[in-house]
Amino acid sequence: MRISVIGCGYVGLVTGTCLAEAGHQVVCTDNDPERIATLKAGVVPIYEPHLDAMLAENHHSGRLSFTSDAGEAVRAGEAIFICVGTPPLENGDADLSAIDNVARLIATEACESKLVVEKSTVPAQTGQQLKRVLEVYRRNGGAEFRVASNPEFLREGTAVEDFLHPDRIVFGVEDVHSEEQLREIYRPILERQFRCSVHLSGCPATKPPTLVVTTINSAELIKHASNSFLAMKISYANMISDVCERVGGDIKEVTRALGLDPRIGPRFLDAGLGFGGFCLPKDVQAFIRLAERSGVDFSMLKEAERVNKRRIDLFFDKIRQALWVLKDKKVGVLGLAFKANTDDIRFAPSLDVLRRLLAEGAEVRAYDQEAMDRTSAIFPQVHCCREAYKVARDADALLILTEWEEFRQLDWERIHGLMARPLVIDGRNLLNPEAMIERGFEYYCFGRPVEAAAARFLPAQVSNASTLSMSA
Ligand code: UDX
Repeated sequence: MRISVIGCGYVGLVTGTCLAEAGHQVVCTDNDPERIATLKAGVVPIYEPHLDAMLAENHHSGRLSFTSDAGEAVRAGEAIFICVGTPPLENGDADLSAIDNVARLIATEACESKLVVEKSTVPAQTGQQLKRVLEVYRRNGGAEFRVASNPEFLREGTAVEDFLHPDRIVFGVEDVHSEEQLREIYRPILERQFRCSVHLSGCPATKPPTLVVTTINSAELIKHASNSFLAMKISYANMISDVCERVGGDIKEVTRALGLDPRIGPRFLDAGLGFGGFCLPKDVQAFIRLAERSGVDFSMLKEAERVNKRRIDLFFDKIRQALWVLKDKKVGVLGLAFKANTDDIRFAPSLDVLRRLLAEGAEVRAYDQEAMDRTSAIFPQVHCCREAYKVARDADALLILTEWEEFRQLDWERIHGLMARPLVIDGRNLLNPEAMIERGFEYYCFGRPVEAAAARFLPAQVSNASTLSMSA
């Protein structure tokens, strides 16, 4: 099918490239001509595993093309996927101005009937507004517009795999024709009839995606409800982690047991610095606001947001208790991205940590395999190093802020020798307390009994001195 994608950000690039990979003819456009020029040159402006190779291949084969002529893109597709950003406004509402702009563009440029698909994350009832704008600005009487919602559940770092191997695909439609067209578009993925360049030696034998066909309003709600539930699950784990610190439990063991119950499930129970990124924080806010506008006080979601915001304070309590004074201390930071396997630092907890370290006069060096350039642009005073060991040299403390697998594989004996003081505060519970303390580190994390571990490895008077304060 001929498909247009408007908005070449994260969602648009993954959607356009994967639909081309699935065999469709895809034209992508964006209102940033530089971004289009970059893409035409075959350069992918974001770090996402598999995306650059898949984009290059489909661009080369002619199935995927880019144009800065938005009108041309609108006219090219039978179906138009709206993938523009919906960033948060000051009050937490989603900014829908880009959606409105695109709707007027489609209404004035289209010469024939179109299926207009919401792919951006939008609050419920946006589809109705979209239909109205398309109608009132429609220029060509022969063009009929049908609106549908098709929320995405991509995770950064695994987005290409998530698109080609989704757990579920959701269609919000108002008529059979729209449903049939969307089924046609997703048939290769629903029936797993596509050449997958993620799993070169054959795709895992997972069950085919479940297709959910519902109303536009429900489809829009499904996205906000899903992300908000994930956020609540993380905040719940973080609350239990705080209790563990008080009563001497181990959050990893508690959440492992929780996750063995299929009604709960093992994922999204990792305690630590909390959730960041461009999706969960803003979708939680937008959902709270939507509920508020419809007269519902989404108190439990507000609390999940408060719990998340407090993670940085708790992390700083640990830093202060260990370092006492931060001014003029050399603090090394491992991890800047909001999570592993991405270069994205939007709403990353690391930004708050850096801001506060610098405000307290600490000298900060940092390392992240993908997110240093974006961080340096915001914090030029942070010295970004080309490797983790350089961050550890003469450091008074090392903070782990992102769960990169690379940090687990580091030579921690070597790091012990490089640091001025072997002190590690692990904001992602990435490392093993016993192993770190056995190596002679002062090691602190979230919700794990480091005292018990320290007591096993350090002489009594030392272990009591350096750990007790941590659980207070
Ligand atoms: C999220 C949703 O997972 C995805 O379905 C949706 O389409 C977009 O938003 P993403 O923003 O890529 O995806 O990140 P995700 O993997 O969900 O992680 C979000 C944040 O939560 C990260 O900061 C991560 O470090 C944190 N997190 C995740 C935890 O603190 N604990 C966990 O157990 C899981």
